[in-house]
Amino acid sequence: MRINKFLAEKGIASRRHADEMISAGRVKINGQIATLGASVEEGDEVMVDDVIVSMEETKLEYYIMNKPKGVVCTVSDDRGRKTVMDLLPESVGRVFPVGRLDYATEGLLIMTNDGDLAFRLTHPTAEIPKTYMARIEGTLTEKDLNPIRSGVELDGVLTKKCKAHIVETNKAYTKVHVTITEGRNRQVRRMFEAIGRNVEFLKRVSIGQLKLKGLDRGEIRELTEMEIAYLKGL
Ligand code: URA
Repeated sequence: MRINKFLAEKGIASRRHADEMISAGRVKINGQIATLGASVEEGDEVMVDDVIVSMEETKLEYYIMNKPKGVVCTVSDDRGRKTVMDLLPESVGRVFPVGRLDYATEGLLIMTNDGDLAFRLTHPTAEIPKTYMARIEGTLTEKDLNPIRSGVELDGVLTKKCKAHIVETNKAYTKVHVTITEGRNRQVRRMFEAIGRNVEFLKRVSIGQLKLKGLDRGEIRELTEMEIAYLKGL
C-alpha cells in the first residue's frame, strides 16, 4: 500500500497532507526517511515525527463542528493561536479538520480521522456544493451578483459558475447565500472583493445536504450513521 494511503487510513492526515508530511521528511519507513510514492507492507515499521504508527485497526470517528471565528483550522499553529483542536472535548480521539475555513470565518466544519473521506471531500474534482451566508457592507441588488454567478478572475483564473441570491438587504448590509463547488483560498471573500464589496461576516451553513443548524458556536457533535453514509456517497 502507498505510504500516503496508509497514513490516511490510520487517521494521521488526509492523503494530501500526508504527502506534505512525507516531503518534509517527517515520515520514516524502517528507519529510513520515506519518499513520496513509497510503499509499505505488513511488518514494516512506520514512524511520524519519530513516533511509531500502530499497525492495529483504527476506529474511525466523524464529527461536525460549528467553528467560531478567531480560531485556526489546523492541527497546530506556529503563531500560537487557538486552533479547532483546542475546542475538542477530551472524549474525542485524534481527528483533523476536513478542508479549511479562514480564521475570521465561522460555521460548518467536518472533523474526522478518516483520511480517505477527507481526501475525497476536498478533492477539486469532487465539486461538492458548499453554501455560505455572507454579510456584505451596504446595499446590493440581484444584478450586482451576476459577475459572482458567472465567474470572477482570482489569480488569473475564473471561478466556476455558482449560485448566489440575496436573503435580506437594507442600507447598512446585505445578506447573500452563495453556493460554490470549489475551495480556493478565501474564495467567497475574494469573489466579493473582485466586485468591489467587503464581506464583513462569513459563515458556512452547509456542505451538500449536511446542514449546520442546531449547533451553537464552538459546539461539536458526532455525525449520525446516515450523515456519514451520505458523505461517503458524495
Ligand atoms: N470562502 C472564504 O472566503 N473563506 C472561507 O473560509 C471559506 C470560503
